[in-house]
Amino acid sequence: MKLTSEHLKTLHSLYIAHLKKALDMEREITKALPKMVDKSTTPELANAFRSHLKETEGHVSRIEQILQRQTGSSKSETCKAIGALITEAEDGIKDAKDDPMVLDVTLIAAGQEVEHHEIAVYGTLRSWAQLMGHNEDVSLLESTLKEEKAADEKLTRISVDANARAAA
Ligand SMILES: [Fe+2]
Repeated sequence: MKLTSEHLKTLHSLYIAHLKKALDMEREITKALPKMVDKSTTPELANAFRSHLKETEGHVSRIEQILQRQTGSSKSETCKAIGALITEAEDGIKDAKDDPMVLDVTLIAAGQEVEHHEIAVYGTLRSWAQLMGHNEDVSLLESTLKEEKAADEKLTRISVDANARAAA
């Protein structure tokens, strides 16, 4: 299918709207991760969340950089999806009632739900940026996407141990 100039205009507006939501998403994650560090009961899990917090601060600044370049401002728009995922995580933490095993598997599950959402968001943004030829954006989005995938894989590795402890 050939993209008309009208299509490109619509795609560009969608791209900007999704970038603004992605910025809100990343900012909310920087607020949620310190709580996940605190609630983790193993140093391995706490460190995984701590190092992803550092990366997430970089994700915020990459999106700010892209939005600045594209629109001249780095204003965000509320991302309802991340709000819902964080509320679910907080409910799960409450339900775990400070049982360390339940707490860790709950935190890992919540972390992976967030990572999968982010992977979907960045996969879409990168494809749209490629379609429109925004090559500098593509490489920034690609770097973040790689870090989200690596964070997800790290949680999978940690979950093998945590799930075995929970089942024992
Ligand atoms: Fe992120």
